Amino acid sequence: MSTIKAALFWTFISVLCVDAIFDKDVGDDGVPFPPTLQPSDSGLPVGHLSPLGYQREPEGPVKEYTQPLAPTEFWEQHARDPYVPLVYRQAIAKAPAVTNWQSDEYIREKYGDLDVLVEKKIEDRMNPVRLRMPLSEFLDNYHRKQWYVVSLLPDPMRAEMQVPRSLLCGNFKDSILESNLWLSSGGTRSVLHYDADHNLHCLISGRKDFIMIPNKYGDKLDLADNKKSGSGFTHMNVDKVDLVKNPEVSEVPWTWATLQPGDCIFIPSRYFHQVRSYGRSVAATIMWDPFREFNDSDCATRDIDKYTALSDVRLQWTYKKGDKVIDMGYINVETMRNILLNEMKDEELNKFTPEVLSILYAYNILDEEEDEQLGEEDMEYVRKVFSLMDKDQKGYLTEEELRGLDIETLKLVTRLIEPAHGPIGENMGSRDEL
Ligand SMILES: *[C@@H]1O[C@H](CO)[C@@H](O)[C@H](O)[C@H]1NC(C)=O
Repeated sequence: MSTIKAALFWTFISVLCVDAIFDKDVGDDGVPFPPTLQPSDSGLPVGHLSPLGYQREPEGPVKEYTQPLAPTEFWEQHARDPYVPLVYRQAIAKAPAVTNWQSDEYIREKYGDLDVLVEKKIEDRMNPVRLRMPLSEFLDNYHRKQWYVVSLLPDPMRAEMQVPRSLLCGNFKDSILESNLWLSSGGTRSVLHYDADHNLHCLISGRKDFIMIPNKYGDKLDLADNKKSGSGFTHMNVDKVDLVKNPEVSEVPWTWATLQPGDCIFIPSRYFHQVRSYGRSVAATIMWDPFREFNDSDCATRDIDKYTALSDVRLQWTYKKGDKVIDMGYINVETMRNILLNEMKDEELNKFTPEVLSILYAYNILDEEEDEQLGEEDMEYVRKVFSLMDKDQKGYLTEEELRGLDIETLKLVTRLIEPAHGPIGENMGSRDEL
């Protein structure tokens, strides 16, 4: 065999082997993490073109606890700025999900008719494809087609998921935005990124490794331009870090964590993280809005040690069978209310009008650099959205009316003036793209 042919042959074989590992559905604990640094014999920096984590020794593991902290301690030591990640071992061990969701058959039988959002296993943020389909269709195909459920956790599944005690009093329980379901055959690799919200990521099946990096190192990490949103990601290829292009990666300190079923990791707002999964992988995450002051007035009276299911707490964005949209990734509607109020004040108006709404809408959908303006069609749309808020159709809302606007209307307005967050109908995009 010629060298080139041999190389191709071995690439082919190794691809097959990798696939075989991922399709076996057993936790592949053979992959060492954190990695051992390999000295460079090429004169190039250590870890050049290796996966993220091979460029520098980690600072150590993420701080971990065998029992979740009480809400006040969690606030004081981790969830208040400066945010500090943590791992809770076996925090959801009592959740029925940890036993029941090990089996595709169980999920298919009980939840197969529920719709979820599905994307490709290997994340491509520049070219995302996301489809909506029933869980049963996903389960029939996910090993062969490298599919990944990244979706709002459907309401009926919340009953089998536990909320760890740290979130059971004070503002925590009032600021939960949504819960997400993550399901794949393993071998997923996220890009290095951060999100706007706090996140408790709990593993139900498989193994997940996390690389954690404080937000302040963002300027060493080849960040994608993302001014408008509270989230961000790097352009770096995390499987092959190019230290010629991004030499400063070697200077960035990082911590690590490995989750097993039942464990949770707190990923703070704006904290960089990169996630790899091994074996059939199921996780549920709970997201909430960071707040500045902790109000513990109900903590003395709440029994945080009573087993609490995720279906026993209020979430802002939910999905149940038959809902037209799966509202994923939207902001807190109370934050939206404040944005609307502030815009009214910025414009020095004492009334909220379609014009004020159009400023926000334009900010969300137009490219400032291109100096674009809202067209007549867009204005027509804004007036329609406005008329949903203007219950007595008098053409404006007073500040008081805006403060009193009901949650359901605010949610509707949020959906309508933010860019689409996912596929709306069943037929957005095609199965062939996945
Ligand atoms: C704290 O929360 C309670 C309700 O749990 C509320 O009645 C009270 O006004 C809040 N206090 C502050 C200072 O926001």
